[in-house]
Amino acid sequence: MVKVAIAGGSSPTLGHSVVSALLATNGRHTPIILSRKKADDGTTSSKDVWPVAGSSSSTAEVETRYVDYESDDSLVASLRDIDTVISVLLIHDTDTFVKTQIRLLHAAEAAGCRRFAPSEFAGTYDMHFKVDFDKMAKLPVWEAVLASKIDAAMFSSGMFMNYLGIGCPEKDGNRAEALAGFAEGPFLFNLVEGWVDMPVVEGDGASPALITMTNIRDIGRFVAAAIDLEQPWGKRELGMAGSTLRFDEMVPLIEKYTGRKMEIRPFTKKQLQERAANASEGVAGIIEHMECQLKTVCCEGGIPIEPTLNRLCPGVKPMTVEEFLRKYWAEPSGISV
Ligand SMILES: NC(=O)c1ccc[n+]([C@@H]2O[C@H](COP(=O)([O-])OP(=O)(O)OC[C@H]3O[C@@H](n4cnc5c(N)ncnc54)[C@H](OP(=O)(O)O)[C@@H]3O)[C@@H](O)[C@H]2O)c1
Repeated sequence: MVKVAIAGGSSPTLGHSVVSALLATNGRHTPIILSRKKADDGTTSSKDVWPVAGSSSSTAEVETRYVDYESDDSLVASLRDIDTVISVLLIHDTDTFVKTQIRLLHAAEAAGCRRFAPSEFAGTYDMHFKVDFDKMAKLPVWEAVLASKIDAAMFSSGMFMNYLGIGCPEKDGNRAEALAGFAEGPFLFNLVEGWVDMPVVEGDGASPALITMTNIRDIGRFVAAAIDLEQPWGKRELGMAGSTLRFDEMVPLIEKYTGRKMEIRPFTKKQLQERAANASEGVAGIIEHMECQLKTVCCEGGIPIEPTLNRLCPGVKPMTVEEFLRKYWAEPSGISV
C-alpha cells in the first residue's frame, strides 16, 4: 500500500479525479489531501467520506492534512509517511506558485518521499518556452525537479476534454458529469455559440495542426496507473491522451454529435501578433496574451502530446473525443447517429 499526498486535492477537477482514481485501486493506494484551509478548532487534519468508484454501496474515508505552504516544517511533517506527492495546485500569482511548489518538492525530499509530480497537466515541456505563464510558473519548478534527487514525472495531458462539455444538456446531471468540476469558459471550441477557431498553419507542405484532449476523469486514472509502475518515472514527460485529432477533424465530429453546424473562424499568427500588441491592461490583458500565445502554438503545429502513459498503462482506456461528444451531447439530446 502506498500513501499518496495530493497537494490541492480539494479541487473539484483534478483533485477530485486523482483522489477518486486512487480510491478505486482496492486499497493499493491511499490518497491524502493537502490543503491550506484551516480547521476552526486548530486540528491539523480531518476525514471526509468519499464514494468509491465502481461500487454503488462502498465508501471510504479520506484524510485531509492542513498545511502551511510557507512553512518547511509544516510541509515536512505532513509528508513523513508519504511515498508519492502529486501536485495539482494552481496559484495565479506565478512567483508564489513557483515558490510554493519548490518548497513542496524540497519538503518531499526531506521527508524521504520517493516520487514527485509538479502541477503540469497541460502542454509539453517545449511549449513552456512559448507561453509566458508556463515559462514563469511551470518551467522553474521543473528545473528544480531536474536538480533534485527525487524520482519525478511531468504529466502532460493536452487540453481538458471537458471544455467540450460547456453548454451540453443539463438533463439528469449530464452537464455536471461532463464538466467534472471544470468551471472555465470556452476556448478554441465554442459549442454554445456554434463556432470553432481554426489555426492557419503557414508554409508549403506544413502539417495540419493537432490537438490532444484528455478527460479530467481519465487524468486521475492515468496518474493512479503511473503510481503502479515499478520502473522509475525517470524525470520524464509522461504524456497521456484521450484523443489527438486535427482541428479540421474535430469539426465534423462536433457537428455530428451536437446536431449543429459550426462556423469556422480561421486565425493566423499575424492576426494574433496584432491582437496581442493591442491587448488591454490588467488581468484581462494577461489572459488575452496567454490565449494569443496558446493559439500561436496551434498555428505552429498545435498541442499534440506523446501518449507515453497510454503505452505504459494499457489498462487505462481513456474516453475519446467522439465518445465524449456522443455521451454528453447526442445521447441526452436524443440525436441518433
Ligand atoms: N489542460 C487544461 O486544459 C488545463 C485547464 C485548467 C488548468 N490546467 C492545469 O491544471 C492544474 C490545476 O489547475 P486547476 O484549475 O484544477 O486548479 P484549481 O482548482 O484552481 O486549484 C487547485 C488547488 O490549488 C490550491 N490553491 C489555490 N490557491 C492557492 C494558494 N494561494 N496557495 C496554496 N494553494 C492554493 C487549492 O487548494 P486548497 O484551497 O485546498 O489549499 C485548490 O483546490 C494547473 O497546473 C493548471 O495549469 C490545465
